[in-house]
Amino acid sequence: MTRVAVGCDHGGYVLKDSVIKTLRELGADVVDMGCDSAEISVDYPKYGEAVARAVASGECDLGVLMCGTGIGISIAANKVKGIRAAVVTNTYMAKLTKNHNDANIIALGGRVISPKEAEEIVKAWYTAQYEGGRHQRRIDMISEIERNEQR
Ligand code: RB5
Repeated sequence: MTRVAVGCDHGGYVLKDSVIKTLRELGADVVDMGCDSAEISVDYPKYGEAVARAVASGECDLGVLMCGTGIGISIAANKVKGIRAAVVTNTYMAKLTKNHNDANIIALGGRVISPKEAEEIVKAWYTAQYEGGRHQRRIDMISEIERNEQR
C-alpha cells in the first residue's frame, strides 16, 4: 500500500480534509502530520521538513504539503536531500510533475485553489506515472547538484 505523508500550516488547512479523503479513496495509507487548525498560526517550515523527512527516509512513499500558496512549504521541503517537491496549481502541472520530474511531494496553496481543485490535482498526480528515459538524466543532474552542495 502506498503511504502518503500529509502536512500543512494554517493557510493550507482548508484543503487538508479534501486531500486526505481523496488519497484514501485512491487506496493510500495516509499519515497526517498536522497542523490541525486554520485558526492558530504555525510555522510552515516545521511541517514541510516533517513530511520531507518522512518521504526521504522511506517511511512514506509520497507527500502532500499545503500552505497559503504552497510556495514556502515547498521551499522548506526541497532542502531535504532526495526531495523533489513541486508547487502545482492545476491538473496539467500535477500530471507532468510526476511524468517528468518524478515529484515525490506536491505542494498546494489554500489561498490559491479550492478544495475541489485540490482533489482533482491530487488524483492527477497520484495516478500519473514517471516516464523515465530522458527525464532520468535530468533528475540525476539534480541529484548531482545536491551532492556538490554537501561537500
Ligand atoms: C502564512 O501566512 C503564509 O505565509 C504561508 O501559509 C505560506 O503561504 C508561505 O509560503
